[in-house]
Amino acid sequence: MLELGRLEDLPEDYRTALAEQNLVPLWPSLRAVLPPRKPALRTRPIRWTYASLRPLLLRTGQLTPIERAERRVLVMANPGHGLEKMQATSTIYLGMQLLLPGEWAPAHKHTPNAARMIVEGNGAYTTVNGEKCSMERGDLILTPTGQWHEHGHSGSQPVIWLDVLDLPLVYYAEASYVIEGQAQRTDSEATEQAYLRGGVVPAPRFIRSAAHHPMLRYPWSEVRQALLGLARAQPEIDAVQLAYVNPENGDDCQKILGFSALMLRPGEHLQLPARSSAMVFHQIEGAADVTVEDSRFRLAGADTCCVPGYAPVGLRNTSADNPAFLFVADDAPFQKKLGVYEVRS
Ligand SMILES: [Fe+2]
Repeated sequence: MLELGRLEDLPEDYRTALAEQNLVPLWPSLRAVLPPRKPALRTRPIRWTYASLRPLLLRTGQLTPIERAERRVLVMANPGHGLEKMQATSTIYLGMQLLLPGEWAPAHKHTPNAARMIVEGNGAYTTVNGEKCSMERGDLILTPTGQWHEHGHSGSQPVIWLDVLDLPLVYYAEASYVIEGQAQRTDSEATEQAYLRGGVVPAPRFIRSAAHHPMLRYPWSEVRQALLGLARAQPEIDAVQLAYVNPENGDDCQKILGFSALMLRPGEHLQLPARSSAMVFHQIEGAADVTVEDSRFRLAGADTCCVPGYAPVGLRNTSADNPAFLFVADDAPFQKKLGVYEVRS
């Protein structure tokens, strides 16, 4: 590839004249913004172990009252992007959040979409637009863009969950903001009951829901059962994986980030092709090795890692006897909308 002219090749008076007019020559930076064959990736493979993170998170419970934090979160930042950017990948924010018994994280709504993967504890709930979603380990709860949400806790032990947001992207788009609100009145229990049976959806008087997010809570007990059922029913299937979708139309359950649950059968080794989207893996149950480029991470219960795009990823269940269950997040829905999503063989 031809070497292009450098900025310092230009006379200083010319560079000054350009800068005074807010003009920039393209060619010295052209290769940086359009590198050959593969993007310049800042996302590094990185892992956060729950055993290391958990005591630090619990300590914030003593150091910072909820009123001084609103959301008591330790953000899992990828050093490739700079810790101050609070990004796990270019589009994904990850944070581990703690709510202690009796605490309340007040109502607000914001433009970024959020999803919660519950890690530990019982008795907490998230109220989303008046709908009370209980938080049990492994549940996925959506708080989509513009929907009021707050967290409460009537249990007796700390509750911890993983927040997954498209905040970096929405912030980059200069579209990120929040509105504070009053405590919501809970007017319904989770509507997930209406959507728990695959293949049928509520249609009162022949009218289907037009809601963008008709289902807000995906209980782990159901998803786990569905994974085991799929593995039993189709033993020859390539990968035992289920996507979290809008049950009304089958679309991804959120517009920017995509979520799925993956079961690795005992001893299974699964090779995922290189895809353009970076990925987050979070271990719900069991243990697995995640291999990407020169990195290999052992994930045990509630450990989380992220891997950059454009590289194949190997997943191995380290147990010969028990299945391993992973929660997976990526930005494939966003990339598909842009037309830049690709799978490389
Ligand atoms: Fe929020």
